[in-house]
Amino acid sequence: MKKALALALALTMVLGLTACGGGDKPQQPAGSTPAASTPASSTPAAGPVANKDKPLVWFNRQPSNSSTGELDMTALSFNKDTYYVGFDANQGAELQGQMILDYITANIDTIDRNGDGVIGYVLAIGDIGHNDSIARTRGVRKALDTAVEEGGAIKSDAVGINADGSASAVKDGKLTIGGKEYTVRELASQEMKNSAGATWDAATAGNTIGTWVSTFGDQIDIVASNNDGMGMAMFNAWSKENKVPTFGYDANSDAVAAIADGYGGTISQHADVQAYLTLRVLRNALDGVDIDTGIGTPDEAGNVLSDDVFKYVDAERSYYALNVAVTAGNYTDFTDATKPYAPVANQLSQDGHPTKNVWLNIYNAADNFLSATYQPLLQNYDDILNLNVEYIGGDGQTEGNITNRLSNPSQYDAFAINMVKTDNSASYTALLNQ
Ligand code: BGC
Repeated sequence: MKKALALALALTMVLGLTACGGGDKPQQPAGSTPAASTPASSTPAAGPVANKDKPLVWFNRQPSNSSTGELDMTALSFNKDTYYVGFDANQGAELQGQMILDYITANIDTIDRNGDGVIGYVLAIGDIGHNDSIARTRGVRKALDTAVEEGGAIKSDAVGINADGSASAVKDGKLTIGGKEYTVRELASQEMKNSAGATWDAATAGNTIGTWVSTFGDQIDIVASNNDGMGMAMFNAWSKENKVPTFGYDANSDAVAAIADGYGGTISQHADVQAYLTLRVLRNALDGVDIDTGIGTPDEAGNVLSDDVFKYVDAERSYYALNVAVTAGNYTDFTDATKPYAPVANQLSQDGHPTKNVWLNIYNAADNFLSATYQPLLQNYDDILNLNVEYIGGDGQTEGNITNRLSNPSQYDAFAINMVKTDNSASYTALLNQ
């Protein structure tokens, strides 16, 4: 068995050397210890591992330039055991736009509440510098034909108030449905940031819908949101009672349940797969086995993911879960967002996978998705994977609030990091380099 694994590892390395460019399957990273000197599953040589050499996973906020979106490859390849785990933001954004368009098409006879011939929507933006947020804003605008391009990319800025359709970041869209042409207008959009600086802020969205309603009243036919936290705040504050379809993202349990009460729909970013990958990648690196173990290749307990739920992009050192639309037609399959994904819910043995200590932070303890969906999933998988995880909850505003609590990295075997801002990787790697 060990021999077979060592052989497989060696083969992977040879393929890794001959293949040009990144394939779909992760290759053993260049510079890793040759299989011959470190047989799979063997105990690492005695002596403490330097913090800078310990496995590191970035998750949910991909190290990148928050203005240009360019990936921060220095952070993504900090050491040979560094990866990012997130989801395919563009594929999910397309799905979200399509879900809203499908709803409009199916309800075209009743969607225009005041009959003024304009289908008006408002949009809650999470964080104008976060690639997930940017992708979702673009996805909605693209599907509803309100997108304006600049330098080959759809603009993702907030428009503020756009009562007459003259905003420069969007245009009035035209949709032809049933042979008839309709105008679509983004009446308003805003980054939902609170006065202390926390983004994706649900309370801000809940207040803002009140302002938008007092400006636009029944011109608002659809409410779109970059996530469910903000979407549900607007739904509960206004759209539920006024029967205005509201669309979010994340498939948090409360949002899925609200579909029965008229919430328009949401997107599952397969947090059950992401939370698994976040910890599994660390587990594999700590065990010294091929990084694909229990991911694309079954482990001895039978854990394996099929390629319809994730992809790996070697050049970006990133695992991306794939998204699924959740609407009135299928929501009953998604009611518990915190349930481990069955194909990867098999317990690992202590023998082959002894308990290791992991430091992990959630950038904002008050973020709905991370606290109500992602962290409970991590807590289920940490038992399955024999990881003793210390969870640190940040305030969503300052990196220092989190990094202050990483004062002794030597106590941990591996790290999982969720930054406040995607540009700030160095605040963490500096601590590991000390
Ligand atoms: C989620 C948001 C969340 C954000 C935090 C996104 O992927 O969809 O709900 O607020 O991550 O970084």
